[in-house]
Amino acid sequence: MNIHIFDHEEQLYKEAARRIIDLVQDHPKAVLGLATGSSPLGVYKELIKSFQNHHVTFEQVTAFNLDEYVGIPSDHPQSYQTFMRNVLFHHLNIDLNNTYIPCGNKEIIEDEIKRYDKLLSAHAIDLQLLGIGTNGHIGFNEPGTPFDCLTHVVKLDSRTRKDNARFFDHLDSVPTHAITMGIDSIMKAKEIVLIATGEKKASAVKAMIRGPIDPIIPASILQKHPNVHIYLDHQSAKDL
Ligand code: GLP
Repeated sequence: MNIHIFDHEEQLYKEAARRIIDLVQDHPKAVLGLATGSSPLGVYKELIKSFQNHHVTFEQVTAFNLDEYVGIPSDHPQSYQTFMRNVLFHHLNIDLNNTYIPCGNKEIIEDEIKRYDKLLSAHAIDLQLLGIGTNGHIGFNEPGTPFDCLTHVVKLDSRTRKDNARFFDHLDSVPTHAITMGIDSIMKAKEIVLIATGEKKASAVKAMIRGPIDPIIPASILQKHPNVHIYLDHQSAKDL
């Protein structure tokens, strides 16, 4: 694991974004794995800046998102579909037809799982961006998820729902389930960039990097990935 620890968040986001920008400059048809949550926001701002300054173009890039809530419409203000359009896609020249986010419509969920896995097996992800949950989850692969799983529906951990309640009016409005890319697909990415900031991530970060590789901390499997870069601030790295 390549661990990068920064004094200033701004520098952290710049350096993490640099990996994506370099990749897309060298490979204009790169396939990116993208994440939601607050952790990647600084990276997305850097990508947008770089695009606006004509340093990089996303015209031919394909993007796969990790996950989506189940049971809220895709145009809901807190859906990951809405999030990605608002914070990134609408600010780049990426072709929306080349952006994939699993659909959380309950009625078609079984077909959606098959569709997403089929798409993933047809596209090799060059770089997967990740955050980490306070319980060590990646995507929405909650503690206990087998490392070899593919796309699946997950019942969200009560801690995850509490952590994400800040985006909703009330804890009861946070969906109870989500659809997520499996750990096996995440591990197939050629390069992984994980971002964690703030003291509340410190114990998950320690378990991911120093703990045993155990499904109880889904992110611990990243110890086995040959090309993983972890970007931390001093607060999230404080227990290492
Ligand atoms: C959500 C997402 C994850 C994300 C995690 C951490 O549950 N499904 O992909 O990594 O939360 O979010 P944040 O970056 O806001 O702390």
